Amino acid sequence: MAADSFYITTPIYYVNDQPHIGHAYTTILADVLARYHRLLEVPTFFLTGTDEHGQKVQQAADRAGVTPQAQADATVVRFQALWQKLDITHDDFIRTTEARHVKVVQEILQDLYDRGEIYRAEYDGWYDVSSETFVTEREAEEAGGADNPNLTRIAESNYFFRMSAYQEWLIDYIETHPEFIQPAHRRNETLGFLRKPLGDLCISRPKARLNWGIELPFDADFVTYVWFDALVNYISAIGYRRDDDFFAKWWPAQIHLIGKDILTTHTVYWPTMLKAMGVEQPRTIFAHGWWLSGAHKMSKSLGNVVNPMEMIDKYGVDAFRYFLIAEMTLGQDAHFTEEQFVRRYNADLANDLGNLASRVIKMIRKNADGQIPERTSHETPGAEEQAVWATVQEAVTAVADTVSTLHLDRGLASVMTAVRATNRYLELKQPWTLAKQADKGPLNTVLYTAAETLRVLSALLFPVMPERMAALRSALGVPQVAPQLDRLKHFGELSPGVPVTDPGPLFPRAKPLSSLQEQELPMTEEPREAPPATPAAAPTKPPAAPVPGVIDYDHFAQVELRTARIVAAEKIPGATKLLKVDVMIGDERRQLVAGIAMHYTPEDLQDKTVVVVTNLKPAVLRGVKSEGMLLAATKGESLRLITVDGNISSGATVK
Ligand code: ME8
Ligand code: MG
Repeated sequence: MAADSFYITTPIYYVNDQPHIGHAYTTILADVLARYHRLLEVPTFFLTGTDEHGQKVQQAADRAGVTPQAQADATVVRFQALWQKLDITHDDFIRTTEARHVKVVQEILQDLYDRGEIYRAEYDGWYDVSSETFVTEREAEEAGGADNPNLTRIAESNYFFRMSAYQEWLIDYIETHPEFIQPAHRRNETLGFLRKPLGDLCISRPKARLNWGIELPFDADFVTYVWFDALVNYISAIGYRRDDDFFAKWWPAQIHLIGKDILTTHTVYWPTMLKAMGVEQPRTIFAHGWWLSGAHKMSKSLGNVVNPMEMIDKYGVDAFRYFLIAEMTLGQDAHFTEEQFVRRYNADLANDLGNLASRVIKMIRKNADGQIPERTSHETPGAEEQAVWATVQEAVTAVADTVSTLHLDRGLASVMTAVRATNRYLELKQPWTLAKQADKGPLNTVLYTAAETLRVLSALLFPVMPERMAALRSALGVPQVAPQLDRLKHFGELSPGVPVTDPGPLFPRAKPLSSLQEQELPMTEEPREAPPATPAAAPTKPPAAPVPGVIDYDHFAQVELRTARIVAAEKIPGATKLLKVDVMIGDERRQLVAGIAMHYTPEDLQDKTVVVVTNLKPAVLRGVKSEGMLLAATKGESLRLITVDGNISSGATVK
């Protein structure tokens, strides 16, 4: 087991068109994870690359009037240029047209053929060019049959891999390895797929139909079918059958990061192929959701793609990296709009983080001789210092956790909470007023504490925003991120007397795309947190009861309570505590805003049956309409939703 090393992969992308935000997202996420592991001094190998064979690429080449290799050569540079621009730190980039890959695919095919795992038979069925997969009669019918230009009827002799032989084994493997397919709803999807009989996998195409592929070593009239070629990249790149030591060092992969569009190929084809080869399984296949543009998946074929280069040129590489990671709740779909980009950029980066950094640095330069001040001249850190430091430590823990669960969006939210807490601490302590006192002790304590939070928070954000955080850290005189987590947990690492320099504006405020946002995001220094309790939509209070604390039944009966099923939930940009929750109350769909984001992720909520106050006056919170209120039990820091014991349909009366 290569548990002491971290091998992470992205899908290898088709070279039929230029990269878009979807490709950038997977690659940035892998990069951030790779960077965190390197900081923790875990030996790390990060692989990405391009999938260059197959009909999609051949068709694109035909359209462009060039050879498929020329098409691949021209497109691969666009991916490579984008990765360079995005500061992607992959250790290798594999192209499936490279000899190091082609030879390994052919050896694997020969070996499986020799061992009877591959056989020849007639195939008569449908092929879907858009997904490069064979589809069943029923799937083809649902997709429009012969009327769908992506579907072709194929009746020909082909080679098949005995995938069906591994069905029982695979079900058992998935069930006994909960970490294998993540998130859990994707595991269920694959298990659902495996409830139907699994067929054998057609792995070839006759050259007469498609010649842009890897030739079968045992039959020169055929090339291998795309997935048998593409999936092998994950092992050919690290020396499978070529360099045993190197292969043993990295395999099994810790994470194959993919989009949910290629779940079946990665969680059914690939595991059975590996099983037949006698190769260990990857530890985790993680399928994230889609970036949507409008109502649809952003995709080349729909022509609704956002060009990452444009966003980067406008807002900077690090802002782009930050947005993609912070905005997508891992495992769910997310919408990409430039409005939302600007809104989050201004809220999190320009206002909160940028403002904190510039205030602290400016005050140190103006009021503390431009040097990290003495930690404190005469007092031990007080309750406020400890409270701020506690939020910073929560962020350290959250980021460490989310690096292993991959839910970096949550880690970043926790960092932003600490940033805001530090801003509030400055509001409270008013260092600009303390600067007027003769005794510099209290001022120094505040400035030192704030600088310490920046030291830790900039380290936590470094893998996401390497360039901007390097600038911030170098301004504070701590350019290197120390690998030991202890350093982040320990208060007092900054050395007094170290010069503090001006990094210039880290995140200049962007012009909002509509006046509406300006209204919703005032540039105040006030905490923008929502009140913590669920009744974000405060009910109009029932008339005062005659005896304090005791009410008539009639008063209670005015409150209408119903069971509701949660059908969707998502974060509300810029509001760390709020979630927008969509529920079904019987046949009626309603949208609520609830202050539960610190206690539940949108995923946790899916399909829960909860209790809703349905006759509240609707309220608008952060520009989002709330038509009701979720009931929850709360005490101190804890909050749990009221749910229903056993099954009852939604819309049931609660009394
Ligand atoms: O499928 N949202 O390549 P591909 C999020 N060559 N992620 C997206 C996305 C979107 N709208 N669009 C694309 C292939 N992606 C095969 C893979 S692997 C052995 C072979 C990302 O160019 C996401 O990671 O269609 C998705 O799985 C991948 O790009 C598909 O890229
Ligand atoms: Mg695709």
